[in-house]
Amino acid sequence: MQSRHKTAARLARLALIALLFTVATVFAQGDITTVEDSGFEKRTRPVVAFEHDAHNQKAEIYDCAVCHHVYENGEKREGQMSVGMECSECHLSENSGPMELTRAYHRMCKTCHLEKNAGPVQCAQCHSRQNAPAK
Ligand code: HEC
Ligand code: HEC
Ligand code: HEC
Ligand code: HEC
Repeated sequence: MQSRHKTAARLARLALIALLFTVATVFAQGDITTVEDSGFEKRTRPVVAFEHDAHNQKAEIYDCAVCHHVYENGEKREGQMSVGMECSECHLSENSGPMELTRAYHRMCKTCHLEKNAGPVQCAQCHSRQNAPAK
């Protein structure tokens, strides 16, 4: 009896650890420091610095879907997110070319910076040579 009870307790503890581990993994953000979408075959501008986690903490954005969104019939689906997908997976089609993808990035990044009156809005502030040369 006694040992079975101990086993159950140990299993419960292991399950809890597994659960915590899963939660931590799910909520671990991207550890990227630059945006380098693979949708751009070649870049004409220096890459953009984007300290993913630090940026979102400073900007106080806790909802991943603010950027990693999901749309259906033109409507944003609340409570759904596209974490794990690159923006180009949806914003780059054969017909649209990289222009659409560029516009998607600019619209997302700059719109919020303008709204919040915080964060860079000029080309060279984001596409800074300090980050890395164009490649
Ligand atoms: C301010 C916008 C923004 C927010 C908010 C945001 N992300 Fe991201 N995230 C990005 C961008 C931009 C990329 C790079 C996308 C690409 O390469 O197509 C990215 C990439 C990622 C990646 C892949 C890169 C890597 O390091 O593996 C993961 C994972 C990720 N984000 C998770 C999250 C999670 C989880 C949250 C919420 C807790 C979150 N993001 C919130 C903008 C954001
Ligand atoms: C799962 C597919 C998908 C992913 C991944 C995705 N989007 Fe979108 N996005 C859409 C759809 C669909 C729309 C609405 C129709 C449209 O305008 O193209 C949209 C709309 C937008 C808009 C206009 C509306 C708004 O919210 O301001 C911007 C800007 C945008 N996306 C940028 C991005 C960026 C930047 C990323 C990567 C961080 C991203 N999207 C990831 C599918 C996606
Ligand atoms: C929903 C709002 C929002 C979105 C979307 C957003 N930002 Fe920001 N960003 C902010 C705010 C707010 C700040 C100012 C944070 C502070 O320093 O207090 C900021 C600051 C920055 C800075 C200054 C350095 C830093 O990390 O604080 C950079 C660079 C930046 N953003 C890049 C980007 C890029 C690139 C994107 C698009 C992939 C993006 N941001 C999308 C809100 C946003
Ligand atoms: C708020 C930050 C921000 C500002 C301001 C900004 N960009 Fe971008 N831009 C981005 C991000 C993020 C991408 C996607 C970068 C990637 O994946 O390499 C991008 C992509 C591009 C691309 C396509 C990739 C390449 O290098 O050819 C071009 C061209 C570009 N931007 C030009 C400009 C110009 C011109 C301006 C000023 C009118 C500007 N950008 C302002 C963030 C910004």
